[in-house]
Amino acid sequence: MVVNVAEAPAAEVAPASRRPWLLSPQLEPAACVPEEGVGAYDLLRRYGVGPLQQERIPRAYFRMPAAERDEKIWTLRHRLGERLVILGHHYQRDEVIQFADFRGDSFKLSQLAAGRTEAELILFCGVHFMAESADILSAPHQQVILPNLEAGCSMADMAKADDVEAAWQALADLGVTGVVPITYMNSAAALKAFCGRNGGIVCTSSNAERVFDWAFERGEKLFFFPDEHLGRNTGVKKGIPLAKMVVWDPFRPLGGNTPEQLREATVILWKGFCSVHARFSVEQIAKARAEHPGVNVIIHPECRLEVVQAADCDGSTEYIIDTIRDAPAGTIWAVGTEINLVKRLDAELPDKQVFCLDPVICPCSTMYRVHPAYVLWAMERLAAGEVVNRIAVDPDTARDALVALDRMLSVP
Ligand code: 13P
Ligand code: SF4
Repeated sequence: MVVNVAEAPAAEVAPASRRPWLLSPQLEPAACVPEEGVGAYDLLRRYGVGPLQQERIPRAYFRMPAAERDEKIWTLRHRLGERLVILGHHYQRDEVIQFADFRGDSFKLSQLAAGRTEAELILFCGVHFMAESADILSAPHQQVILPNLEAGCSMADMAKADDVEAAWQALADLGVTGVVPITYMNSAAALKAFCGRNGGIVCTSSNAERVFDWAFERGEKLFFFPDEHLGRNTGVKKGIPLAKMVVWDPFRPLGGNTPEQLREATVILWKGFCSVHARFSVEQIAKARAEHPGVNVIIHPECRLEVVQAADCDGSTEYIIDTIRDAPAGTIWAVGTEINLVKRLDAELPDKQVFCLDPVICPCSTMYRVHPAYVLWAMERLAAGEVVNRIAVDPDTARDALVALDRMLSVP
């Protein structure tokens, strides 16, 4: 296990006045305009947990006035004290992030989960793959809880383990050898385990280039999933010609490629995308530049290649936050990432102008499924001694996934 708690990144935390058990520096939450999410049933079907999450929770939780609900959550928060740590992904709405002891991107939150061993309960306000990673990286006595089991990730769902295994077998049948599988952090634990078993590795958007180097020291070809765009953007940064990167469409024979194309390819990219980041366009960047002379355009590398190339810079969620926070006062930033984060940055950094490239973009609909009503329900059950919505990766999968995660953590 390579996670070094002492080296875990500095965390952002919400108001100290409400958290006497935390000693770290604080950041005030800011207002944000939420929108309605959509319902999806994949996770419930997959894990067989029964009725939809909202049907498992008494309607009173949803009818409760926000102020009463929030006060109940704060009361429970104090009662549970150090036994509980609440983690919040940057894309969570403000009504939820206000309760997070720590904010972070998916990888940072997993490290934080591993680092707070005094907390036996980890309430993960994020999406399913993040809670799985937290479970894998945390200590055996810790339990990870996802407030709404329907909070999945449409991108992670685009690469099913069975389909990836079938593609891997098809490549082997063609005699394509020397292939190193890489899965993006935003994937199911089963895919991380697949990489662990097959000489592969996990990457995040902040270390993808270094992970590519690691993989090319061990093979001649990369098989990258589930995000086609992060894979292609990273390949371009590593100088791999576009003609040497093919896309594997799981709904077509040989992924829609000829045997020759697969033998010639340097990178095989799974046909998957993020429904939030794939929306950003070159036209939006042109409009921002026309309307805001001197604007800096910064985007997430889950965006399409032409959008990354039209921007001034691109990087992970933490990179975007750090870059804008450290920029000179008076600068203007057009940002291509999730709207809750962009609005929060604008509110928390009043000396800069920060706006979203897409003025009508919706938040990540699956992140949005974590509503404060679920947070209250889960915390009431925890306070009553019942652990609900636990995300527990089966031991064999966790063991193999940890191999791939540890390989990533060992990359300098
Ligand atoms: P990070 O949290 O790793 O930046 O990934 C972005 C994202 O899409 C999270 O779901
Ligand atoms: Fe998945 Fe994209 Fe939402 Fe992240 S922002 S959880 S990658 S759909």
